[in-house]
Amino acid sequence: MMNKVHGLFLVAIFIIASTKLVIGQSLRSCQTRCGNVSIEYPFGISTGCYYAVHASFNLTCNETTKELFSGKLQVINISHSGELRILKSRSYTCYNSTDLTEGTFYTTTLRNFTLSNKNRFTAVGCNTYAVMTTTIGDRSYSTGCLSLCDSTPKENGVCSGEGCCYTPVPKRRKRFRIRSRRFDGETSVSEFNPCFYAFLVEEGMFSFSPSQDLQNLRNVTEFPVVLDWSIGSRTCEQLGNTSICGQNSLCLDSTTRTGYNCKCKAGYDGNPYLPDGCQDINECTTSSSIHKHNCSGSSSCENMMGHFLCRCPSGFDLNATNNSCMRKHKPEYYGWTQILLGTTVGFLAILLVVICVQQKMKHMKSIELRKQFFEQNGGGMLRQRLSGAGPSNVDVKIFTEEGMKKATNGYEESRILGQGGQGTVYKGILPDSSVVAIKKSRLGDSSQVEQFINEVLVLSQINHRNC
Ligand SMILES: *[C@@H]1O[C@H](CO)[C@@H](O)[C@H](O)[C@H]1NC(C)=O
Ligand SMILES: *[C@@H]1O[C@H](CO)[C@@H](O)[C@H](O)[C@H]1NC(C)=O
Ligand SMILES: *[C@@H]1O[C@H](CO)[C@@H](O)[C@H](O)[C@H]1NC(C)=O
Ligand SMILES: *[C@@H]1O[C@H](CO)[C@@H](O)[C@H](O)[C@H]1NC(C)=O
Ligand SMILES: *[C@@H]1O[C@H](CO)[C@@H](O)[C@H](O)[C@H]1NC(C)=O
Ligand SMILES: *[C@@H]1O[C@H](CO)[C@@H](O)[C@H](O)[C@H]1NC(C)=O
Ligand SMILES: *[C@@H]1O[C@H](CO)[C@@H](O)[C@H](O)[C@H]1NC(C)=O
Ligand SMILES: *[C@@H]1O[C@H](CO)[C@@H](O)[C@H](O)[C@H]1NC(C)=O
Ligand SMILES: *[C@@H]1O[C@H](CO)[C@@H](O)[C@H](O)[C@H]1NC(C)=O
Ligand SMILES: *[C@@H]1O[C@H](CO)[C@@H](O)[C@H](O)[C@H]1NC(C)=O
Ligand SMILES: *[C@@H]1O[C@H](CO)[C@@H](O)[C@H](O)[C@H]1NC(C)=O
Repeated sequence: MMNKVHGLFLVAIFIIASTKLVIGQSLRSCQTRCGNVSIEYPFGISTGCYYAVHASFNLTCNETTKELFSGKLQVINISHSGELRILKSRSYTCYNSTDLTEGTFYTTTLRNFTLSNKNRFTAVGCNTYAVMTTTIGDRSYSTGCLSLCDSTPKENGVCSGEGCCYTPVPKRRKRFRIRSRRFDGETSVSEFNPCFYAFLVEEGMFSFSPSQDLQNLRNVTEFPVVLDWSIGSRTCEQLGNTSICGQNSLCLDSTTRTGYNCKCKAGYDGNPYLPDGCQDINECTTSSSIHKHNCSGSSSCENMMGHFLCRCPSGFDLNATNNSCMRKHKPEYYGWTQILLGTTVGFLAILLVVICVQQKMKHMKSIELRKQFFEQNGGGMLRQRLSGAGPSNVDVKIFTEEGMKKATNGYEESRILGQGGQGTVYKGILPDSSVVAIKKSRLGDSSQVEQFINEVLVLSQINHRNC
């Protein structure tokens, strides 16, 4: 029985260990960087390293130039949240005073990615218009902007129609063409603006500099463009638990396109697309200011799975408003009952002690009195005379008053044997059932005491002889 249990246990451990091993291996054996770009699942470079739901996640790294590609798109950044940055060339046209001398335009297919609405379609040039045409099925849609000017604009950084114009980009587009054209036959601008440029660029990543850009766009040929990505085309609800989102992660429907993305739960960090990619953040020790704990004052931070706790030393309570410790305050009513209870108990205790002492003293006093009476009534003398009787075998027993009372059944009248001038004689029965005569004497002065004692002595000797 024991062995069986052990066996099962070992098997369980083995299974856990081996699954961990597989996950670890697939991570370790996959290339995680290409140049400056880090690559994480579902993206990957070789078979088994990327999620093969569509070919867009199959990346290639040119080991010579250290450039990363998805198909023909050069990838410069990948984000778990469903964004991807690529570098995209500008289109341009150049003119001499009369004719078009040089020009290129690009038609781009974004594989399974789609354009994000974080991009701007931008044109640079005087007396130029630029058009972006997207095709959906066999239909095409165009958008664009127009820039007219007859001299170099003075203002830097402003793209507002003078030498530079832009327009937002419709998202979800997968295939588009960008062109720039001279607006009319006007030739006067060709000296300061020989070429007209059109490009897509991530919002905020291009700042127009008229004098330089109208000449040659600062020789920049490629701009960063944001794309959206997601997995598959179904929603999280449709997928149930079959999404690839790992432990401690959430499946989120893509807000920009069909399909879903994964996200680590709050308090976890890592790659949500791997089975155990999302790891607990130790808020107590992290250097990241976003995740750092906010325990303050004397409260100490304790890391928990997915969150943290602020703990206070004993005698302190946590104030959740600023996560600092405050001394515990005692509720008032509790104090009053405590005081009342304490006083009562104390009082009772004192009373008890006083009563005890009193009782003890009473007892001592009564013993003292008895002793005194014993002496006064000749008890001492009797004892002395008895011992003074020498080595005689006089067997005298001194009874206590209680003993006598018991023997006479409380000096009962029926026990009276006779009455004389000096006292009354009772029939007594001792605890050992022997019957005795007890004389209760009425003593007045000490001379009578002596007489009584002599009587006792004589009696005891007679008694002895009889035995
Ligand atoms: C990597 O980044 C550094 C610094 O930003 C840059 O100098 C270098 O050219 C980059 N390398 C590649 C291959 O992009
Ligand atoms: C990608 O962008 C994120 C922020 O969006 C940044 O933290 C990361 O360093 C970037 N990676 C590369 C390779 O540029
Ligand atoms: C991944 O991409 C590379 C280069 O584009 C290609 O040679 C390879 O066949 C692709 N792999 C698969 C499984 O499609
Ligand atoms: C890498 O890039 C260089 C320069 O663009 C090119 O000559 C070479 O063929 C590329 N290598 C691969 C494997 O594509
Ligand atoms: C402009 O370019 C065209 C074509 O290259 C050429 O025929 C023409 O002579 C050029 N005009 C001038 C003024 O250089
Ligand atoms: C991406 O590709 C998959 C399979 O090829 C397809 O089902 C899905 O609709 C595509 N997603 C987009 C947004 O084009
Ligand atoms: C742009 O390239 C031209 C030659 O192609 C060169 O003469 C010029 O200095 C470059 N300008 C900048 C800003 O790099
Ligand atoms: C998904 O859930 C069903 C029932 O809820 C279960 O039978 C199945 O094993 C689960 N699949 C996975 C991959 O967790
Ligand atoms: C937090 O609030 C308490 C109560 O007002 C205050 O005594 C304490 O100084 C505050 N601590 C911090 C760190 O602000
Ligand atoms: C907690 O601290 C705040 C100020 O930081 C204070 O306003 C509040 O009264 C405190 N709460 C308690 C229960 O003392
Ligand atoms: C501390 O941070 C948590 C989130 O980590 C937040 O919910 C809470 O309000 C913060 N508390 C204070 C006192 O700043």
